[in-house]
Amino acid sequence: MSDVRTYLDHAATTWPKPECVYDATHHFAREIGVAAGRGNHGAARAATDVVEKARLHIAQLIGVSQPRNIALTSGCTASLNMVLHGLLKPGDHVVTTVTEHNSVLRPLHHLKQQGIRVTYVNCDDAGYVNPREILTAAESATRLVVVNHASNVTGAIQRVEEFGPDLHSRGIPLLVDAAQSLGTVDLDVQSLGIALLAAPGHKGLMGPLGTGILYATPEFHEQLQPILQGGTGTESEQEEQPTTWPERMESGSLNTPAIAGLAAGAKYLLGRTVASIRNAHNEQMAAFLDGLLSSGVWTLWGSRSLQDRVAVISITANQLNPHELASLLDSHFGIQTRAGLHCAPRIHKRLGTLTSGGTLRFSLGATSGPHDLQQAMDALQSIEGHCL
Ligand SMILES: Cc1ncc(COP(=O)(O)O)c(C=O)c1O
Repeated sequence: MSDVRTYLDHAATTWPKPECVYDATHHFAREIGVAAGRGNHGAARAATDVVEKARLHIAQLIGVSQPRNIALTSGCTASLNMVLHGLLKPGDHVVTTVTEHNSVLRPLHHLKQQGIRVTYVNCDDAGYVNPREILTAAESATRLVVVNHASNVTGAIQRVEEFGPDLHSRGIPLLVDAAQSLGTVDLDVQSLGIALLAAPGHKGLMGPLGTGILYATPEFHEQLQPILQGGTGTESEQEEQPTTWPERMESGSLNTPAIAGLAAGAKYLLGRTVASIRNAHNEQMAAFLDGLLSSGVWTLWGSRSLQDRVAVISITANQLNPHELASLLDSHFGIQTRAGLHCAPRIHKRLGTLTSGGTLRFSLGATSGPHDLQQAMDALQSIEGHCL
């Protein structure tokens, strides 16, 4: 690994985390160190307090007045599976999009073999789905609509405000995968008509790896069958899994040291504000996209408009495979990116990049340096001069 490290793979997981995240994780592990909701001694109460703080800060970030509508999970994949496996039954119809991550596509593929029907709504060349097509695809047997808020390939932010409230008024639940938007796009679940929201804790929320959240409106608290049953520290006399949220979805000891870091990350975001992070990203992206498009060598897979995108930028070049480009960037310039399909095969099929190695992806996070994308641009120009 090169001594100089320019990390441009925040879409996979954000790094470095703000110092307060490391401090909180370390403090918890050393000074508190126990499970939450288990026991009544001082440390157990402190652990419970930390967990409730994490819910509270995250609730504030997504416009939720009741923090206990948020369950803590091990990641976005876990949260998505909890809904897909916990809600859908044979005969149900699901509407989703070709922009989804495998954490939606694979559970749905599995469920299709058990009699669930799935409609995949297509996207345009920049990764945007037409809200009207989602509304048209939803029918009376539709039990769920699942949409990726921001694409982890093109950075496209879907216009949830143009279909979420309509679906809500038709009584069709909307599950949003906010893996690439929470923490970088202001998100208010109520005004967007979102019934269920899955997100990682370790990306935009700035928490440690192995954390995630699942938000559900109260009507789903009983309907969602937990995919794990076990100890919740509550209603222990009863053999049946409790229906009370969030304990119903949180069997087993939570990863409290990581959740302490997640609470600190969410608090950091509330202080710094999501809008200021987005502005910082947009400033870097504007110059980068100009440079990229002016060279004529690179193809941008996504929109040039900053308004409708997050800082997830996919490119390709005719004469250089994305994996070779990622290797060059790493070995010669210390720039860490991601090459390939980014676990989202259907959008690559739509864009025509499925069989040519996918794309090379740069992505920013809250702690990205102000010149990270400029360094990437300099490196691309040097590669243009030497290899292309
Ligand atoms: C759009 C999208 N959904 C889901 C996931 C899965 O997240 P996690 O790693 O927290 O399970 C990712 C991760 O890259 C993603 O980009």
